[in-house]
Amino acid sequence: MTANNAGWTDLAGRVAIVTGAASGIGAGIAELLAESGATVIVADRNEAGVRAQVAQLVEAGHAADAMIVDLADETAIERACSAAVERHGAPWLLVNNAGVHDRQPLLEVTVAEWERVNAVNALGPFLMIRALVPSMIARGEGGRIVNVASNVVLAPMVVGHISYAASKAALRAISQTAAFELVEHRITVNTVLPGGVDTPGARGAQGPAPAGPASSRRPPLGLSQPRDVAAAVLFFATPAARAITNQQIAVDGGFSLT
Ligand SMILES: NC(=O)c1ccc[n+]([C@@H]2O[C@H](COP(=O)([O-])OP(=O)(O)OC[C@H]3O[C@@H](n4cnc5c(N)ncnc54)[C@H](O)[C@@H]3O)[C@@H](O)[C@H]2O)c1
Repeated sequence: MTANNAGWTDLAGRVAIVTGAASGIGAGIAELLAESGATVIVADRNEAGVRAQVAQLVEAGHAADAMIVDLADETAIERACSAAVERHGAPWLLVNNAGVHDRQPLLEVTVAEWERVNAVNALGPFLMIRALVPSMIARGEGGRIVNVASNVVLAPMVVGHISYAASKAALRAISQTAAFELVEHRITVNTVLPGGVDTPGARGAQGPAPAGPASSRRPPLGLSQPRDVAAAVLFFATPAARAITNQQIAVDGGFSLT
């Protein structure tokens, strides 16, 4: 790194809130942000997982704190976010990563299943933005929001994703609208679209078995790892990306080429 770009990828002294950081992609994002100097708030409903992740980060010499929150619960989100702002000040970065990705057969999806998936994957991220952005605006130094959607919004990958795809398309629309309304505050909003990432959530997803021609499509660069997705999040989070908003990066092992 030369003197000209020194600090451009450095997040020292900046607070990052990462949802779903007790597992999988979120845990990878939390680790990479912490290694880049950020104080990372590990937000998840899995309390034991949050405690373990915070302990691991602190043991590695990083700054980290816990936020136990159910992203399907509006009151819990508001309470947890105001406690975090009180403790750490306004965050520089919010990563809306938490998500549920169970599959349901297209013609059997119940309203309750649809609502559960959309509550966590779309409404939750909006509520996190609504709860945290006022403090970011009040501080007046800009900020970053990165939403983790899915490359299912570009092309279906597996069967059974009707609720999931709708929720992730909503999240992409939330990114676009928030980017438009927050640009005057120098808060950028970008989206990462993972596809085929080796995580506990992907391995344990319930639903119909892959079937039909689509199930034979494989990412030519292989299954991604959480840190592959984290690298794209880190890029959007850094001062280096200050002129980039309303953009998206797919981290999907080249799936679009299949
Ligand atoms: N793994 C993939 O192949 C893949 C592909 C595309 C997109 N994604 C997206 O990446 C994100 C992370 O997925 P992952 O594969 O790491 O899954 P994961 O299941 O391993 O991790 C998800 C985390 O979100 C948390 N979470 C779920 N519901 C919550 C709620 N209501 N409140 C708070 N926390 C909650 C879980 O406790 C878990 O720690 C998700 O949004 C997912 O849709 C994953």
